[in-house]
Amino acid sequence: MEKTHVAIVGMGTVGTGVARLLLEHGDRLARHAGRVLWLNKALVRDLSKNRGIDDLPAGILTDNLQEILDNHQISVVAHLIGGIEPARTIMLQLLESGKDVVTANKALLAQHGEELFDRARSLGRTIAFEASVGGGIPIIANITQCFTANQIISLRGILNGTSNFILTQMSEKGLEYDKALEIAQRLGYAEADPAMDVNGSDTAQKLAILAHLAFGVRIDWKEIYRKGLEAFTIEDIRYAEKLGYRIRLLATAQLIDDNLELHVSPTLIRNGRPLAEVRGPYNAITIVGDAVGDMFFHGQGAGQMPTASAVVADMIDTAAGRTEITFRRLQLWSDRQCEIEMIPYSKTIGRYYMRYLVADEPGVLSQITGILGGHRISISSIIQHEPAESSAPNKVPLIIMTHECSESEASRAHVAIRELPSVDSECFKLRVSEG
Ligand code: NAP
Ligand code: HSE
Repeated sequence: MEKTHVAIVGMGTVGTGVARLLLEHGDRLARHAGRVLWLNKALVRDLSKNRGIDDLPAGILTDNLQEILDNHQISVVAHLIGGIEPARTIMLQLLESGKDVVTANKALLAQHGEELFDRARSLGRTIAFEASVGGGIPIIANITQCFTANQIISLRGILNGTSNFILTQMSEKGLEYDKALEIAQRLGYAEADPAMDVNGSDTAQKLAILAHLAFGVRIDWKEIYRKGLEAFTIEDIRYAEKLGYRIRLLATAQLIDDNLELHVSPTLIRNGRPLAEVRGPYNAITIVGDAVGDMFFHGQGAGQMPTASAVVADMIDTAAGRTEITFRRLQLWSDRQCEIEMIPYSKTIGRYYMRYLVADEPGVLSQITGILGGHRISISSIIQHEPAESSAPNKVPLIIMTHECSESEASRAHVAIRELPSVDSECFKLRVSEG
């Protein structure tokens, strides 16, 4: 059988998983690819570090990138180092040396997609990136190949495994935030800088990629409105549960009258709806297409083998010649014009959960409801508990769920309520979604 020589650049969590699949399941991969994927080299920084693979053949590991660049047998490279530099320079060097590249690095694509795809096109090379969004879920292939008869109308997803893992550990096992994050890091879910996972940046990068594929928009991920796990506390998780909701870090892309809203925010999702049921490092994405209707994708969004599964599938597609056809047709991050305008976050419409700690005295509730009414915000439910023995004296938590209103009115009302002398400074406002 013919051989395609491949290399791995970066032997961390994902790179090691890719090496395992190539070395331990070569026959299966060869059957699916119609050729042998032959691991020729794997680039590491530290040759003495144990990579946890017992049967790694001698001579494969190298700490010299040039050995891969100069090796003309190697045609496909899995680029599995994170961050921007040296990842960007290395990817350019790989393309320039004639290699087709497979990557899982969404930060790099979200920031430098235009430059990298232009360079790949001009060199007649390809970049495949299924693992960059949704880990093992084949969402990129579905959007770019299976939904091409559709105008996608909306796309909503849980796109960060680390933050979803933390949320479920906190709510279901009562773990502290720091402990849950530490476990996520140990299990290989988190980025080298886990702040990207928990502050919504990683999700925004993935949303920028999906929005580009689904709607053709080219948006700087930093321009996407985003909030992360800092926007609420364990108490909000508990109140949401009492109200019949779960909090999830939700990415939203929605076409409204040919304009697009994009945001990432912790959102209360009603129990029983598919996105509310996503647990641990799992990701999920709902897509609505004008012909296909509703679709739901669910699977492990982070972790060694689920991500390696997507990387190796891309390596097989590249070796078999399928990537080239899609890559040329899609013209991703090219100069193609896109007519869609972005809707500013302040103009989006949503329901809100608001939580305040208020003085337990006459007139406070009417002040708050008066402010909401003044901003034309209708209340859907309101809960005020008796003060707990442990709570601050004469302070009671007040939880308000609103009907739909504009984000700008909700924000103005929230600020006005927070400024009332009878309201504590620590207050929270989260979006609510029915499904
Ligand atoms: P990781 O465990 O930190 O591994 C990165 C590897 O790259 C490390 O082994 C590191 O070497 C190596 N490296 C960094 N700079 C290098 C250089 N200049 N030369 C050679 N090697 C270099 O990261 P990961 O979790 O595997 O993630 C890799 C990429 O996949 C990231 O872009 C990440 O966002 C993405 N991704 C990860 C997951 C996941 O679940 N982990 C899922 C989807 C996508 P050392 O070992 O010497 O430090
Ligand atoms: N750190 C990322 C996550 C890896 O937790 O989702 C998958 O992209």
